[in-house]
Amino acid sequence: MAASNTRLAFFSSLLLLFLVNSCQSLSSHNIYLRRQASILVSVKQSLESYDPSLDSWNVSNYVLLCSWTGIQCDGMNRSVVALDVSNSNISGTLSPAITELRSLVSLSIQGNGFSDEFPREIHKLIRLQFLNISNNLFSGELAWEFSQLKELQVLDVYNNNLNGTLPLGVTHLAKLKYLDFGGNYFHGTIPPSYGSMQQLKYLSLKGNDLRGLIPGELGNLTSLEQLYLGYYNDFDGGIPPEFGKLTNLVHIDLANCSLSGPIPPELGGLSKLDTLFLQTNELTGPIPPELGNLSSIKSLDLSNNALTGDIPLEFSGLRRLILLNLFP
Ligand SMILES: *[C@@H]1O[C@H](CO)[C@@H](O)[C@H](O)[C@H]1NC(C)=O
Ligand SMILES: *[C@@H]1O[C@H](CO)[C@@H](O)[C@H](O)[C@H]1NC(C)=O
Ligand SMILES: *[C@@H]1O[C@H](CO)[C@@H](O)[C@H](O)[C@H]1NC(C)=O
Ligand SMILES: *[C@@H]1O[C@H](CO)[C@@H](O)[C@H](O)[C@H]1NC(C)=O
Ligand SMILES: *[C@@H]1O[C@H](CO)[C@@H](O)[C@H](O)[C@H]1NC(C)=O
Ligand SMILES: *[C@@H]1O[C@H](CO)[C@@H](O)[C@H](O)[C@H]1NC(C)=O
Ligand SMILES: *[C@@H]1O[C@H](CO)[C@@H](O)[C@H](O)[C@H]1NC(C)=O
Ligand SMILES: *[C@@H]1O[C@H](CO)[C@@H](O)[C@H](O)[C@H]1NC(C)=O
Repeated sequence: MAASNTRLAFFSSLLLLFLVNSCQSLSSHNIYLRRQASILVSVKQSLESYDPSLDSWNVSNYVLLCSWTGIQCDGMNRSVVALDVSNSNISGTLSPAITELRSLVSLSIQGNGFSDEFPREIHKLIRLQFLNISNNLFSGELAWEFSQLKELQVLDVYNNNLNGTLPLGVTHLAKLKYLDFGGNYFHGTIPPSYGSMQQLKYLSLKGNDLRGLIPGELGNLTSLEQLYLGYYNDFDGGIPPEFGKLTNLVHIDLANCSLSGPIPPELGGLSKLDTLFLQTNELTGPIPPELGNLSSIKSLDLSNNALTGDIPLEFSGLRRLILLNLFP
């Protein structure tokens, strides 16, 4: 009898322990959800206007946080890993509170009217892999502590009002594959150290106020598949012959950016190239016959330069060509 009583007491305390434990973890789960919900609501409250779809962002609805518009949680429905409020008619500033969502892996806010500076505290999002803030009105310099953003793979800030010189810190992003600084007001020269980002597949610096020589070091970006440097930039000198080392290039656009000198024959070695845009520059000399080796080329535009001589006979071998514009 005594033994069975002890046993009963033992099992009921075990049961109690179990209940207390699961309540505790349930409530810590809820506290955690509630904390993230209030961060998001404070981010929303600092906006000037937004799409009605964000009405679901309401702290009293925190239990359903993982099904709020634009929110994606991890597999346990515990923490917010992705936030996508692209094209949501948002205007106003982005509150630094966003950087308290430490589990964020992906942040997409493109196609809105966000203005002023992007929060400099961005480096607190140490898990961030994907950041797209393109097509907004962000201004100021990108003086971020890039070295902390070790996981970043995609950085797209295309078409904002950013200025200052191109940030050097991005060269510390060892996993960066996609970098778009195009369509802003960055000035100064392209840092030669940009040639050290050997894992980069996509680089756009087009449509800025860049000057000086295009550094030959960019020829070290041997993983590069797409390169855009043209329009509004106003470079000195010409196309670096080192670009002939970019043998993975598929698309290169260097149009309308004041390039002078000859077309380097080395470009003829870019066997994967399907688009070569060099139009509207001050390029001189003959069209190199080596361009006849561009066996994958579909679009070739050399128009509006000061090139001389005839179209090389070798071009007859370019069987995939769809667009050919050599108009002087
Ligand atoms: C949040 O939801 C509660 C309950 O549904 C509602 O009473 C309140 O007005 C909502 N707050 C906002 C700001 O929409
Ligand atoms: C997580 O939340 C989503 C949407 O609210 C739901 O469909 C899914 O079943 C939940 N998953 C788990 C593991 O609770
Ligand atoms: C976007 O927001 C503005 C107010 O800031 C409003 O006038 C306009 O109708 C909204 N557009 C859409 C497509 O919702
Ligand atoms: C970022 O968003 C824009 C739309 O504003 C889109 O065109 C672009 O492809 C996106 N970038 C990436 C890397 O997905
Ligand atoms: C950069 O933009 C900011 C905000 O628009 C402005 O105050 C600053 O003077 C600009 N700096 C340069 C170098 O143009
Ligand atoms: C990068 O390119 C420059 C000039 O083309 C060259 O001198 C340099 O050694 C290269 N650096 C690396 C790390 O390959
Ligand atoms: C070339 O770029 C300048 C601005 O740098 C612009 O005014 C001009 O219209 C562009 N020309 C062509 C043919 O695109
Ligand atoms: C490329 O073209 C040039 C001139 O047309 C030719 O001499 C050369 O052998 C070609 N190179 C390759 C790798 O096909």
